Amino acid sequence: MIRIKRAFAIALLSLSASASWAADGEAMLSSQCASCHNLTGPAPATLQALRERKGPDLFYAGNKYKAQWMVQWLQKPQRIRPAGMFYVNHVKDGAEGDAIDDGGLTAHPALAAAAAQAVTDALMQRKARDDLIRAGAYTPGTLSKSMGEMLFDKFRGCLACHEIEPGYGGLSGPEVYTAAARLQEDYIVSYLRDPQAWDPKIFMPNRHLSDSDLQKFVHYFRALGQEVKP
Ligand code: HEC
Ligand code: HEC
Repeated sequence: MIRIKRAFAIALLSLSASASWAADGEAMLSSQCASCHNLTGPAPATLQALRERKGPDLFYAGNKYKAQWMVQWLQKPQRIRPAGMFYVNHVKDGAEGDAIDDGGLTAHPALAAAAAQAVTDALMQRKARDDLIRAGAYTPGTLSKSMGEMLFDKFRGCLACHEIEPGYGGLSGPEVYTAAARLQEDYIVSYLRDPQAWDPKIFMPNRHLSDSDLQKFVHYFRALGQEVKP
């Protein structure tokens, strides 16, 4: 009985600790993050709003990111979009094609561990667009890195916009070598099926991928993540 009571007390304590962390996280979000991130939705409805977006939308963060990745990244942010949020704002013509003009790109604010945990708790509660997520849409499987690369590059033309290792690939989208660590698998399936359902004005093309291709891309990102240590 005493043991049960103690377990109950501990459970209550940790419950209220995480609730107050999330509350601290909410306060931090509105004072330190809302100037660049949309925390309430909806996504940009016009090209101009897309172009002016200062950071990725976080109002459906709980359906998109892996919490463990977020806690780490917020303490030690590393660039995900090589040319910033809207690449034409940061790309200039170079002798060998596009080159990044990183004069205008600034480092992301880094947080201490407790703060990173608190904002992550608060962000993971944002579950907008549940309607687009099907739990279990991704079925774990494998694909060789070379087959994945053929699909990503030659067959579907994704490499034109995404890097598959630091310095190799296109610059206008987020790198994908940390995509599997960063993003929930079921989100990747949903996003690749219809990027504009999440973000109506985004210029990532809808390639009308088959379910088999959707699965293969996630297998590939997982394989990439095991081999590329950014
Ligand atoms: C000055 C603008 C700015 C502020 C302030 C800012 N961010 Fe960001 N944030 C960005 C940009 C730009 C990116 C994209 C970084 C990249 O692609 O490398 C980003 C990326 C992120 C990501 C990764 C998501 C993704 O898909 O790239 C998270 C999580 C995040 N920010 C959380 C926060 C939190 C939490 C705060 C407040 C403590 C915050 N940000 C404050 C601009 C900002
Ligand atoms: C014309 C450029 C372009 C092409 C081609 C393209 N993408 Fe994208 N992709 C983007 C942009 C832009 C985003 C969203 C960037 C953002 O949210 O900041 C994106 C987002 C993504 C994301 C989500 C990444 C994240 O961190 O949010 C994945 C995964 C992805 N693309 C995979 C693919 C795959 C697979 C293909 C090929 C079938 C492909 N892309 C083709 C531009 C492109």
